[in-house]
Amino acid sequence: MAILVTGGAGYIGSHTCVELLNEGYEIIVVDNFSNSKPEALKRVSEITGKSFKIYPVDVLNKDELEEVFSNHKIDSVIHFAGFKAVGESVTFPLKYYQNNITGTVVLCDLMKKYKVKNLVFSSSATVYGSTDQVPIVENTQLGAVNPYGRTKQMIEEILQDLHHSDPTWSIAILRYFNPIGAHESGRIGEDPNGIPNNLMPYISQVAVGKLQKLTVFGNDYPTKDGTGVRDYIHVVDLAIGHLKALENVQSTCGVDAYNLGTGKGYSVLEMVGAFENASGKSIPIRLSKRRPGDAATCFANPSKAKEKLNWQATRGINVMCADTWRWQRNNPDGYEKVLKTIIGSHSPVQNHAAGFLMPE
Ligand code: UD1
Repeated sequence: MAILVTGGAGYIGSHTCVELLNEGYEIIVVDNFSNSKPEALKRVSEITGKSFKIYPVDVLNKDELEEVFSNHKIDSVIHFAGFKAVGESVTFPLKYYQNNITGTVVLCDLMKKYKVKNLVFSSSATVYGSTDQVPIVENTQLGAVNPYGRTKQMIEEILQDLHHSDPTWSIAILRYFNPIGAHESGRIGEDPNGIPNNLMPYISQVAVGKLQKLTVFGNDYPTKDGTGVRDYIHVVDLAIGHLKALENVQSTCGVDAYNLGTGKGYSVLEMVGAFENASGKSIPIRLSKRRPGDAATCFANPSKAKEKLNWQATRGINVMCADTWRWQRNNPDGYEKVLKTIIGSHSPVQNHAAGFLMPE
């Protein structure tokens, strides 16, 4: 029985694939590579020494996705595939609703048809909107403030309705706080398109010399040093959270949302300091006004995940920065430098530990 991972080539998806393979799961990856590179999966294979099936398929394409369900005995699905850029979602809301929501509906419809009812869904703390009630617990009133966040919130509601219609579904909704870091090998990590919007990739690109200085958005927040405070979580801790959620959905029925965070908040300036220590590089900064839509402070109460999933984050801020730096230093252009792999066909491709993505 296999685990289907949609969006498995992405930042969190690729790290989760590593942990799944290390635990001995058989995985099938579906990814349309619209915002990720096949190279990430080649490196997943290299890190784990294991091969797995990859379908270069869009979850919106029901016929092609159905082939995956008919070709394999799938036990559970971890669903990462989706667009994730807040600013872009404001400019192109329909693109986000179409891709994220319709994609999930198509996937769930096929899961229903093939009687696969275990699902781990990649949500985000963005569903809480700009709440100032911290630490955030799961039953806080939801109120996403942009189309991207609303797609996550709406999908959560769709999954609740689905479970209500058929209580034999088992669904874990994982609300990520701020994922950073990279696999300790330095071979896989976050590879944003263009100039990064998020703090950590921006800092690391300044450190490696690709960007000149970090703009700090606001130093007049009611926080320890005036800059925004967030709950940064190591992507490998997050990946392990998916394995715990998977074990949970495989053994129970129900639908539950879990905060995946550390429960600790760090300010922008603290993150800059920690990164300078880890990298030995200095990060020049420029103070600017607040970024619209940003909350002052956001951190999780992660106790529900600890109690019900037996999961808690173990990697601290220094490891997060050191691992981010190793990835950035070794791959200054992300996966870019690597020759594009041919993924023209929609037939499955086998990802060999030895190296290449090859048509089967
Ligand atoms: C952002 C998204 C959120 C998404 C998350 C993914 C927004 C408003 N929110 O969260 O929906 O789920 O990323 O990780 O985009 N900062 C700077 N300079 C920068 C970049 C960021 O000072 O160049 C500050 C921000 O003001 C904030 C902190 O760093 O205080 C973290 O920002 P960021 O990494 O973008 O994450 P969030 O805004 O928390």
